[in-house]
Amino acid sequence: MCGIVGYIGGKEAAPILVNGLKKLEYRGYDSAGIAVLENDFLVYKQSGKVSNLEAIIDAKVKQVTTGIAHTRWATHGEPTQENAHPHTSNNGEIILVHNGIIENYKFLKDELIRKGFHFLSQTDTEVLVNYIQYIQDKNQLNIEDALKKALQSVNGAYALAVLDKKEPNKMVVTRKGSPLAIGVTDTNDEFYVASDAIPIVEHTQSLVYLNDDEVVTLERGKKLKVQDIYGVTKGYKVKNIDLDLNQVNKGKYEHYMLKEIFEQPSTIENTLYSHLNNENTQISFDKLEELKEKLIKAKRIIIVSCGTSWHAGIVGEYVIEELARIPVEVEYASEFRYRNPIITDEDIVMAISQSGETADTLAALRYSKSMGATTFCICNVFGSSMSRECDFTAYTYAGAEVGVASTKAFTAQVAVITLLGIQLGLERGTISKDTADGLVKEIKSLPLEVNKVLNTEKHIKSVAKNFVKSSSFLFLGRGINFPIALEGALKLKEISYIHAEGYPAAEMKHGPIALIEESLPTLMIATNNNFYDKLVSNAQEIKARKGPIVAVVNEDDDEMTHTADFVFKVPRVSDILQPIIAVVPLQLFSYHVAVYRGCNVDQPRNLAKSVTVE
Ligand code: F6R
Repeated sequence: MCGIVGYIGGKEAAPILVNGLKKLEYRGYDSAGIAVLENDFLVYKQSGKVSNLEAIIDAKVKQVTTGIAHTRWATHGEPTQENAHPHTSNNGEIILVHNGIIENYKFLKDELIRKGFHFLSQTDTEVLVNYIQYIQDKNQLNIEDALKKALQSVNGAYALAVLDKKEPNKMVVTRKGSPLAIGVTDTNDEFYVASDAIPIVEHTQSLVYLNDDEVVTLERGKKLKVQDIYGVTKGYKVKNIDLDLNQVNKGKYEHYMLKEIFEQPSTIENTLYSHLNNENTQISFDKLEELKEKLIKAKRIIIVSCGTSWHAGIVGEYVIEELARIPVEVEYASEFRYRNPIITDEDIVMAISQSGETADTLAALRYSKSMGATTFCICNVFGSSMSRECDFTAYTYAGAEVGVASTKAFTAQVAVITLLGIQLGLERGTISKDTADGLVKEIKSLPLEVNKVLNTEKHIKSVAKNFVKSSSFLFLGRGINFPIALEGALKLKEISYIHAEGYPAAEMKHGPIALIEESLPTLMIATNNNFYDKLVSNAQEIKARKGPIVAVVNEDDDEMTHTADFVFKVPRVSDILQPIIAVVPLQLFSYHVAVYRGCNVDQPRNLAKSVTVE
């Protein structure tokens, strides 16, 4: 959460910084700020979106070539102008932007207040910048040494870009827990800093990713100087990032979310074909060989994740247990990391994460690793912390996902975990070669089938119009479609602010049925072969209580179509592959309900795409 950007070089910094912030707005949009440094700092801050900030930046910034900027997702203190970053030290000499949370800020603040420091904001960040000033003054240090020493007493997560007026040719950056990338050029005469690669790649595709606790000094014309917080010199690797810039534009679509929903035929295809052999007939996870034995012999797989990725994890539980007969536990990473879980070196712990940076998932992965488990992640961002730290990464090739509500990353995650389930089943002998080949053949047809669902958008939009005034929604599904009910409910609530709950359909009788009445619609996913009759009975129970029903059904459906008020027809595929198809109408339905309600679907209130704080 929060996005930071920095630039030091020969070009005018402000436009680079503001454009960078716009690309990071998915990380938070409560306030934005920028500081440029020539002889003194020029600071601009505004609450709300980056466009509000842009409107107040004046001509004074022209030709200034060093600066830092921030877009905020509020943690400590309301989203006001005074809490907006950058924050300046009491002596006006140090300024910084911060993504993360300083956990011991209260302790540090009390100490600083006793020493006569004062504070203008409620933020933990203002405490940090003053603590750096305090350490600098006390020990007479340059900015990088002051930062290193200060960080030795700081607990929490941070990505920081720091400027010191006394050393205007330098920028110092560091990270711990929160992501940070540095864009470099062959001549080292300019450097770009950002919370992810997206704002950087239009300038340079050569990126350096920092490890936790590394402090880097950026000076024009010099190579990066990397040290840890204790002053030990570290090496660094420059990676070439091949990111298609079209992915970070809306193109012909009104919103990123809609664009990303419509990209799914190609993102699913890219993901699938990246994990198939050259003939596209066999599953082949690159570099999985070393882990294969462990995976095949695994007594248990524990999946850790959050939000939509957690829903993909539950689909994974059904798929892996069904095909490979390995027990799977799916855990909220936030609960798992704090409840003293039993993990042994016989366990495989699998993190699922679009960003690869979610704080709870990363912590759960690290904890599992420290307990000796083999760690595996399914991740969409190359070079992310999770992909760097776990034993094996299976990437989803969904491309940059900008819309805050995850769509194409989810279907890509489900595609990867399904391939993995098939592969493990085959290796363990729990499914035959014929079954595996049949599933591989069928899974390759999914992009086409998803496209058919996308072609029904107009109908889905017309149905959505009927529910603009709903205040609550129930989503029901069974078996492998239960997580799709959870995902449908999450999509609707996060972008339209309509309260929505997902339930296993059979659980309806154990409580939620009390809510059913004319004003409470239910969305039922009724595509399974296995539970179809039971779902029809559930639908009749709802209708008997006058509840409106929208049902996702197969194209050849009959009974549910007659029971429900509205249906979304989707192609029939094997039950195990249904989630990828069934989720698409729910994404479109949520999108259109939210747009009809006038909501900002790409930037829903209070949310941020990458939750890098607890
Ligand atoms: C919902 C959504 C979130 C994320 C969750 C985990 O649409 O996007 O629930 O799924 O914050 O994020 P990642 O997958 O980046 O770990």
